[in-house]
Amino acid sequence: MKKRLFSGIQPTGEVHIGNYLGAIKNWVSLLDPYDCIFSIVDYHAITVPQDPKSMPKQILHVATVNIAAGLDPQRCTLFVQSQVCEHTELAWIFHTITPMGHLERMTQFKDKAKQHRENVNAGLFSYPILQAADIMLYKAEAVPVGEDQVQHIELSREIARKFNARYGNIFPEPQELLSTAPRIMGLDAKNKMSKSLNNYISLIESPEDIWKKLSVAVTDENRKRRSDPGDPDKCNIYHLHKHFSSPEEIDWSAHGCRTAGIGCLDCKRCLWKNIVKELTPIREKAMALFENQNYVIEVLQKGAERCQEMARQTMQEVKEAIGLQLTPQPVKTKV
Ligand code: AMP
Ligand code: TRP
Repeated sequence: MKKRLFSGIQPTGEVHIGNYLGAIKNWVSLLDPYDCIFSIVDYHAITVPQDPKSMPKQILHVATVNIAAGLDPQRCTLFVQSQVCEHTELAWIFHTITPMGHLERMTQFKDKAKQHRENVNAGLFSYPILQAADIMLYKAEAVPVGEDQVQHIELSREIARKFNARYGNIFPEPQELLSTAPRIMGLDAKNKMSKSLNNYISLIESPEDIWKKLSVAVTDENRKRRSDPGDPDKCNIYHLHKHFSSPEEIDWSAHGCRTAGIGCLDCKRCLWKNIVKELTPIREKAMALFENQNYVIEVLQKGAERCQEMARQTMQEVKEAIGLQLTPQPVKTKV
């Protein structure tokens, strides 16, 4: 029996190379060794305001790009979170055992509360509880994510421990799996690459658009002129080379930068060529799938059916453990 793996991605915009290097590429490499479940987490997405009209399109878009990037529906289960109602049901139960203090410590909550001052809602606060329910509903043991999610997985483990201690041993403690690129910086070189900041390269961008973004991306800011030597370790373009380029090209970039043998644009052109090479098959596959969205809808429906069955079983076990199920009593007969 393969171990179960679960991960999620929010349908909140373009899928970018941070998602790809930090999560999706790792997911693809784990398809065979694990029983993999991936969810488009729309209930998480609505903790910040979303446009109801564009939500269905966004959900399909993220599903399509993930399939194109290698989530082969023959080798994993892909579904939309809100189609399996047990996620929120288990989340409620976990609310009753999660200390407020733990949620207050979550850095993602603190960051998002700052970004959305006008809408610091209870869902944003208890977001990691829903995430714990996502994982635990399928008793997943492995959770491949980027570094920004590690704190949430640690909290999931604590919730599992608390539940098991109070009600009996039902849930395994989930473990995060980090990729070799757990934190990709944005093209501004200051912030993590993120959908909410316009600092990303999307997985389905055209080569021309990728170049437009790369050509103005921030490099080592101390290298002001072409003739100045630079420090590759302080350059985000060099760090991206490590994920897209050959060992020879990575050496060429570092050496050329240190000796001022190459300019930043030479370095970017080489990176551009390699990013385009890796992303072109993904873009082409996505374009073909955009022409066949019914296929994607069908994949998501089948995924939801499989997950509904597993979720129902877990909830039955959970309710029994908590004492929330009435069992029929033997009928008393009068004598
Ligand atoms: P999200 O798009 O926020 O739902 O994230 C989906 C997955 O991508 C999660 O596992 C994140 O940890 C990961 N991720 C998002 N941004 C980055 C980044 N800049 N570097 C590495 N991983 C990331
Ligand atoms: N919170 C994750 C993110 O923003 C998405 C997510 C929701 C998730 N549920 C999950 C990731 C369960 C791993 C496991 O990226």
